[in-house]
Amino acid sequence: MAHDLYAQHIEHLDAGYQRALEATGFDAVVVHAGVPLPKSPFDDQFWPFEPVPAFAHWAPVAWPGSAVLVRRGQAPVLFAHREDSFWEAPVALDLPLLQAGLTVEVVTDDAPLRRAVQSAGKVAFIGHEQATAAALGVAPEAFVPAALLAQLHELRVTKTPYEVECMAAASRVAARGHSAVAEAFSAGVRSELDLHMVYLMATEQDDHQAPYKNIVALGAHASTLHHVDYGEAPEAGSLLLDAGARHAGYCADITRTVAAQGGGDAARRFRALLAGMEALQAEVVAKVQVGLQYEALHDASHDLMGRLLVDTGLSRISAEAAVETGLTRVLFPHGLGHSLGIQVHDVGCRLTEPRPENKFLRNTRTIAPGQVFTIEPGLYFIDALLAEARAGAHADSLDWALVDALRPFGGIRVEDNVVVLPEGSAENVRNLTREAFE
Ligand code: GLY
Ligand code: MN
Ligand code: MN
Repeated sequence: MAHDLYAQHIEHLDAGYQRALEATGFDAVVVHAGVPLPKSPFDDQFWPFEPVPAFAHWAPVAWPGSAVLVRRGQAPVLFAHREDSFWEAPVALDLPLLQAGLTVEVVTDDAPLRRAVQSAGKVAFIGHEQATAAALGVAPEAFVPAALLAQLHELRVTKTPYEVECMAAASRVAARGHSAVAEAFSAGVRSELDLHMVYLMATEQDDHQAPYKNIVALGAHASTLHHVDYGEAPEAGSLLLDAGARHAGYCADITRTVAAQGGGDAARRFRALLAGMEALQAEVVAKVQVGLQYEALHDASHDLMGRLLVDTGLSRISAEAAVETGLTRVLFPHGLGHSLGIQVHDVGCRLTEPRPENKFLRNTRTIAPGQVFTIEPGLYFIDALLAEARAGAHADSLDWALVDALRPFGGIRVEDNVVVLPEGSAENVRNLTREAFE
């Protein structure tokens, strides 16, 4: 990654932190990476180390116990804590990159940070462990102060060019995995575990390095939105793969659905539905606009879904009625998407609640340049929701014979990651996913 982009990122972040410290009355803040968390209090095993997201915002450093100290009016300092142990070797650090943006001190204990904290005035702590904060001399009331945390989350709502390039790099890795899995599915692989392994090999990731557990769903399994209990489905005519990658701590979150060739009438109807969903998803991406509420985009996706249900013969009522009666929500029950960054479901974009009928929507922000979010409409044949619809007042709205014919295909989701571009740009968004597949 270009060092100048990282340096600009740090400059931007430091300016935001300086404002946040001033607004909340602190002289400094320790942003602590944390330590590996135990899997169970009854065992001596630990989860793979995941740095605290606020720390990852500063530095791609997976060294437990590291911290960034930000003081008002001073350059931020990274205390990179190198564990000298014969059990494990520390993971590699990109020191030249880090030094392009930060003052870096490689330390082997907390003493240098503690000394710096003790002369820094009123110091806040962002991190996991209250005991670590106390050992550094941080007052109990300065442990993760809510007002400061809210300001730091706000700094993560729009992304710097460095962060966008990290996500573009993650998208390229993930696209490689999706292409390899689609090829394996076409070649006849019908084991979800095998397809998962194909993905990991093509993306050169271990399972825990992926940003979330791969959802690999053959046929009817796709009707479970987070299907991760892998099995086999020798007859499956479809595959839904929701799988990502990370670069320097930043995520890609991509879903593709593929349909097998051949089969009978139901397979043809499913392929038509898939083509319709792909077109719908592209249409929603084209509607992204600075100043629009993300929730309005979600509403627009339901309007388009109403039309698709009519066009494919699933709905027996009008497109408008399919939205009004809740039929579109039987088939598309989740939110249109979410902010993306260091966390797959990134922070700061659900400060207000969506309307009750959109309760799973994770983004209620006004769309602004620099935001990165997913656009991921889905359409699924979920037994529990269909049973409810069948028992309800609008049971006649669906063509049940067609629903039953399509149930073995489970469902469809198409998910891209987009960056909102400034008004006046040639395009409304930069679609990181589409460009990664090119
Ligand atoms: N992969 C989780 C999601 O799409 O939100
Ligand atoms: Mn997503
Ligand atoms: Mn996803």
